[in-house]
Amino acid sequence: MTQPSRPQDGRAALASFVTNRLGRANARPSPAPAETRAPVANESAQDFEKLTGYRELRLQRSAADLIGLGNPFFRVHETRAGAQTRIEGQAYSNYSSYDYLGLNGHPAVSGAARKAIEAFGTSASASRIVAGERPSHLKLERALAAHYGTDACVIMVSGHATNVTAIGAMLEAPDVIFHDALIHNSVVTGAQLSGAQRRSFAHNDPAALEKLLEATRHEHRRALIVIEGLYSMDGDAPDLAAFVELKRRYECWLMVDDAHGLGVLGRTGAGLHEHCGVDAADVDIWMGTLSKTLSSCGGYICGPSALIEYLKCTAGGFVYSVGMSPPLAAAAEAALSVMQAEPERVERLRRNGHQFLALAKKHGLNTGSSLGLAVIPIIIGDSLKAVTLSDRLFKRGINVQPIIHPAVPERSSRLRFFMTSEHTPEQIAQTVATVAEELSALETGATLIEQLMARRGA
Ligand SMILES: Cc1ncc(COP(=O)(O)O)c(C=O)c1O
Repeated sequence: MTQPSRPQDGRAALASFVTNRLGRANARPSPAPAETRAPVANESAQDFEKLTGYRELRLQRSAADLIGLGNPFFRVHETRAGAQTRIEGQAYSNYSSYDYLGLNGHPAVSGAARKAIEAFGTSASASRIVAGERPSHLKLERALAAHYGTDACVIMVSGHATNVTAIGAMLEAPDVIFHDALIHNSVVTGAQLSGAQRRSFAHNDPAALEKLLEATRHEHRRALIVIEGLYSMDGDAPDLAAFVELKRRYECWLMVDDAHGLGVLGRTGAGLHEHCGVDAADVDIWMGTLSKTLSSCGGYICGPSALIEYLKCTAGGFVYSVGMSPPLAAAAEAALSVMQAEPERVERLRRNGHQFLALAKKHGLNTGSSLGLAVIPIIIGDSLKAVTLSDRLFKRGINVQPIIHPAVPERSSRLRFFMTSEHTPEQIAQTVATVAEELSALETGATLIEQLMARRGA
């Protein structure tokens, strides 16, 4: 059972929270050298509260409670969360939704889902190998393969699981995976599952990758390079042509996780290839998720037919997992059609992102390397300050999440703004002005520790 937290726990927690700035507190302690390791007591081996990291979580929560910060995570939205939302009866400007083109709830998208429910119910009932296909699976796979001009496509029930299972199935021990240092967790987990060597290179730096390839490519059999389209924490994009050149020269496969690029990058939102003016066929594997622009749930791999056939018959996350719920597949396919038919949505998103970025820069806010499209961070540095700023903005009607270590590197905590085509220019102007005002108040006011001491009469 969880013990109720005592004031002493809270003070200790605050000290830990402040000195470690949440970030370092999250780091797992290094295990003691083998010879000095104490024997594991049976009691704690069965105690979930002793899970590594759980105690840190509790400490962080106690510290936040002590300072009076609300929990910014797991908020319950009482409506479709797009550019606006409602939480506990209050209206908010919302910057915590992946619904980049405002397609969640679009009549064509909801209508397609409804029709699929009427025809097939809500479940595929078992793995597609066992329970068979539904037309909406095949329609979506054909539409995605046509989008990238690939032979074939396979859809899976989660974007995260798609990377894990596809990468896990494609490579093995004598192989190697080169990935951007800021690559998504699902790619790293897939690489670990595969048993292949994993080597990361500096973010968006083809020269760093080239050095790695020069030094190590010859040690391995197959090699996979994985990059993202639009990076989900920084909102920047790689130079695709440079990576294509390297993958050719060093005989590697190139995989692009375009989870945040589809619907966002390029004039029509086709993705990273359109943004960079590169032929989609120069990339071996296009991966993406259905949960962002396509306002559904799931992931896909588009590529050569041998790869897709192989994944459909061997990837555990496909073979041993239920087929995608038919209405989700139908919704994603309808969303892709709307996206392709209405490039003005992509243009609106671009205008909104650029407006946000320009205003943020004018106010002296640190937006890092963001291109000003769907993802715009305001980099704060200090985790406690980022969480506090998010809390203050929430109190002023703006819902935006703080991102802290380990999701981003130490000392680069931030507020991450997801833009949509549906935000209005007035909303954006007001939001940026409020962020600047609250951040400046935070920076010029008493430090958080001073405020706390004052509150406690110390
Ligand atoms: C780059 C990237 N890849 C994969 C995923 C996993 O996708 P999903 O959330 O749809 O499971 C995400 C999630 O945000 C992501 O940002």
